[in-house]
Amino acid sequence: MEKGKKLTVSQFRKMKENGEKIVMVTAYDACFSALAEAAGADMILVGDSVGMTQLGYENTVQVTMDQMVHHCAAVRRGAPNTFVVGDMPFLSCQISEEQAMRNAMRFMQEGFCDAVKIESDTLLAPLIAKMVHAGIPVMGHIGLLPQHVKTAGGYRVQGKSDAAAERLLGDARALEESGVFSMVIECVPSLLAKRITESVSVPTIGIGAGPDCSGQVQVINDLLGLSPFTPKHAKKHAELADIITKALSLYVQEVKQGVFPGKENSF
Ligand code: KIV
Repeated sequence: MEKGKKLTVSQFRKMKENGEKIVMVTAYDACFSALAEAAGADMILVGDSVGMTQLGYENTVQVTMDQMVHHCAAVRRGAPNTFVVGDMPFLSCQISEEQAMRNAMRFMQEGFCDAVKIESDTLLAPLIAKMVHAGIPVMGHIGLLPQHVKTAGGYRVQGKSDAAAERLLGDARALEESGVFSMVIECVPSLLAKRITESVSVPTIGIGAGPDCSGQVQVINDLLGLSPFTPKHAKKHAELADIITKALSLYVQEVKQGVFPGKENSF
């Protein structure tokens, strides 16, 4: 795909058809979204993982609409030419259809997103169809749903039994029918993710779902080595926590010793 030009939902579908992998990464502010854009990411996800990576929450349940919109707008300012997806937070779709539509509208109008992502199963398919009909591109999200951590009692690989696998296939087909332009598949066995990818026409974006999805998404803190622990599905492509801590320690030392600021930093 052409570098420096924002991709569209139909181009993502073409990429799947052509076997070209789609690369999505999370970002939460203008600094990192600019870096993701410079690196050539196809899509940026402003994930509700912002709650854990940036806001110090234990999980994503506390993240609010206002916080999401604030971070989306910052990400857009840093990456004006990248397709940005805003993650609809806990219960932002479930209280009423009207509220869900207004929340999705806020992502588009105040957060300047190109699409929203919804942790979803078959039950939300009619709502998603209404959003798509109203002009809001929607990305589904099946498999491990972090917003359900309290009812699920933790984060576990999904779709391991035959019945659970069939349910996930059913969810994927229902989402496709509702009109999603793509769907995240989180933490399911690779073979099941491959089956789902082959049985829907829209691109699948995997995280902990093996190599056969149409694309991959990772949490930026995990891949840069900024997370306190690295999940099995992630690979540290850098060790930024070490680099940053070393730089900060040097700064602390130099100020304490009167080495910084030097003449060259003074007016
Ligand atoms: O919030 C997030 O970062 C996500 C990804 C893990 C897909 O939903």
